Amino acid sequence: MQQPILEVDGITKRFGGVTAVDNVSFPVYRGEVLGLLGDNGAGKSTVIKMICGVYQADAGEIRFEGKKLENHNPKQARDIGIETVFQDLALVDPLDIPSNIFLGRELRTGPFGFLNKKKMAEESLKLLQRLKINIPDLSSSVLSLSGGQRQAIAIARNVYWNAKMVIMDEPTAALGVRERSNVLEIIRTLREQGVTIILISHNMDDVFAVTDRMVIMRRGQKKAELVTKETTKEHVVGIITGAIDY
Ligand SMILES: Nc1ncnc2c1ncn2[C@@H]1O[C@H](COP(=O)(O)OP(=O)(O)O)[C@@H](O)[C@H]1O
Ligand SMILES: [Mg+2]
Repeated sequence: MQQPILEVDGITKRFGGVTAVDNVSFPVYRGEVLGLLGDNGAGKSTVIKMICGVYQADAGEIRFEGKKLENHNPKQARDIGIETVFQDLALVDPLDIPSNIFLGRELRTGPFGFLNKKKMAEESLKLLQRLKINIPDLSSSVLSLSGGQRQAIAIARNVYWNAKMVIMDEPTAALGVRERSNVLEIIRTLREQGVTIILISHNMDDVFAVTDRMVIMRRGQKKAELVTKETTKEHVVGIITGAIDY
């Protein structure tokens, strides 16, 4: 574990009288899967929203590849390689899979800028193969997909754009067992391809299956930073609930 790709340095966010995130610092190393854990309301989503530019921090700073992120918005974050998969996946139901993967960034051709559907379909197929995502019919509307397939498409869409880092907020929360294991498989594949991942999850089995390290938050503060191989579920749950004082 060498060079951090992302450095979160003393960030704070207040909403009125509530300090949602209180002076939180941690590095994210290039190529690792970092779990961000904590009970409901611990401040996890607020941290990642500051990283991806939905919110600006009230104090502290965030550096990506050594460069301070200042007044960035989600589009700028994407442009530099930070992609986020939110809980509500923002797929457009009536559209087919390639249209969703290229949503807002459609490939066009010719002097009139017609949609290049053929190229988008080819690129989508290549992408899904690269991520080992198996969906029989690319031309089906995403409405017909299962929850796990939708999750896979949302992740794939982010990865296509050469993401260096993918942030996932509870990607498996609404999924069945088999679908969950498919999403975990995608996370492993991404990791093999050198993509850095921040995974927010409540599910200890998932966290222990795919993360290298974890950061644990409680009531807005960072309570622990642990190497997954060196800890146990009981210990982690204890820190999350406050039963173990840190
Ligand atoms: N937009 C907001 N306005 C007011 N309070 C918020 C807002 N977003 C989050 N909070 C509050 O900040 C705290 C942390 O929330 P959040 O980051 O969503 O936690 P988590 O993702 O860990 O469940 C909670 O107390 C929540 O109610
Ligand atoms: Mg949340």
